[in-house]
Amino acid sequence: MAEPILKVSGLYAGYDGIPVVFDASLEVMPGELVAIVGANGAGKSTIMRTICGLMHPLKGSVLFEGADISTLPANRTVKLGISYVPEGRRIFAKLSVEQNLALGAYAEDSKTEVKRRVEEILQIFPVLRERARQIGETLSGGEQQTLAIARGLMSRPKLLMLDEMSLGLMPTMVEKMMETVIGINKAGTTILLVEQMVQETLEIAHRGYVIQSGNIVQSGTGRELLDSPDVRKAYLGM
Ligand SMILES: Nc1ncnc2c1ncn2[C@@H]1O[C@H](COP(=O)(O)OP(=O)(O)OP(=O)(O)O)[C@@H](O)[C@H]1O
Ligand SMILES: [Mg+2]
Repeated sequence: MAEPILKVSGLYAGYDGIPVVFDASLEVMPGELVAIVGANGAGKSTIMRTICGLMHPLKGSVLFEGADISTLPANRTVKLGISYVPEGRRIFAKLSVEQNLALGAYAEDSKTEVKRRVEEILQIFPVLRERARQIGETLSGGEQQTLAIARGLMSRPKLLMLDEMSLGLMPTMVEKMMETVIGINKAGTTILLVEQMVQETLEIAHRGYVIQSGNIVQSGTGRELLDSPDVRKAYLGM
């Protein structure tokens, strides 16, 4: 059996010592596309922030490729191969698309290597090439989200964590984003996805976890969760 690339065990995480995530355990295998779905305030972003080292577990552990990264800061986990694209399309508003991308590879010292990666990314996202010199804040919402994901790939992550990338996008754009994510995953990057768009997300995820008020209440393949009466009732309005 292959080892999980990410293994979260018995995780308690929260703010000012007060947990908002309780005893969460989840695994991601190499090459998988795994989703965490749940309502507003359920604790999805807290789990992601704790995995990438922006926060640290109150209890429990986070293993990445078998090594305990629970206490590492985010600038170390990015070097190990974890890239976190936070919710809210946080791009640099005053910098160009190219400059935004280059900053995504900040851990890379070689300028030629950074240039090479920008070129590679522009190949994958033609919409960004058209706007390479355009200032971040002048991009449309969908373009900004594309840029945020593209920047997340600039560090060549083994694990890409995408937080609520569909938020505020129109349905056709959401569909495009989902296709982009499938493409990135098929090209070899393991993905952990957090979404409120439960149906759309479970349709593309290999496996998923459902989180409710800080507790993981269900897990299974995307299909199993889509077919689950509890999930359908709670999230799909059926
Ligand atoms: N910086 C913070 N300080 C205190 N409490 C926080 C902080 N950030 C989040 N919380 C609380 O932790 C809980 C979980 O929040 P979290 O952001 O992880 O939820 P989420 O599932 O990502 O929600 P959403 O779908 O709205 O993004 C919420 O009750 C929230 O109010
Ligand atoms: Mg969130």
